[in-house]
Amino acid sequence: MPSKPTKARSVHQIEQLAKTPDRDGFDCGSAPLNLFLQQTARQHVERGISRIFVLVDEAATAPKPIVGLFSLTLCQIKSESLTSQEAKKLPREVVGVRLGRLAVSKAHQRQGIGKILLVAAMGKFLEIFNSAGGIGLFVDAKDQDAKRYYEQFGFVSPPSNELELFLPVKTIQVALDA
Ligand SMILES: CC(C)(COP(=O)(O)OP(=O)(O)OC[C@H]1O[C@@H](n2cnc3c(N)ncnc32)[C@H](O)[C@@H]1OP(=O)(O)O)[C@@H](O)C(=O)NCCC(=O)NCCS
Repeated sequence: MPSKPTKARSVHQIEQLAKTPDRDGFDCGSAPLNLFLQQTARQHVERGISRIFVLVDEAATAPKPIVGLFSLTLCQIKSESLTSQEAKKLPREVVGVRLGRLAVSKAHQRQGIGKILLVAAMGKFLEIFNSAGGIGLFVDAKDQDAKRYYEQFGFVSPPSNELELFLPVKTIQVALDA
């Protein structure tokens, strides 16, 4: 299970994407994700298509570098697309929150930042869950490597679409002790 962020990371603040951080300097090794941040992310925020959260190095001088990001969007899915275990007792259509664009800059990968972002996304999910419901977090893994990454945090995939992963609300509540 993911752990909570530690004090050692406190110079890194997770906040909604604003105009000021250095979007152009971000490189996570995935060109589509870099381009999304540079060219599309602000429009998504302004139009309400999604909310984008960035982890910014507050100790750096302006424009402050973006260390990592993720996006959240409301989603509606057919319960038949879940595992049969999960689909039991659910109505035909259910709502949840889609986690997207999880990315960490190459210079900061493998230091637990992805884990910190995932824990933050789970916390945001619970805020939505408490006021509007939702059965969990959904994510489209971009490849098998990304799938393996998510699975270690408890994400499960139905046999019908193995790159579409789901983290049930119960797993999130246990992980965050909520
Ligand atoms: C995938 C990504 C977000 C992981 O972020 P990160 O900060 O490097 O990951 P963390 O340091 O939190 O890793 C947590 C654990 O996952 C493991 N891990 C990291 N990247 C992994 C990968 N690609 N596949 C499988 N496991 C991975 C680490 O070994 C670590 O385990 P440990 O704590 O036992 O050592 C980052 O590598 C990235 O931005 N990649 C490019 C964009 C991408 O692929 N995004 C996913 C979109 S679907």
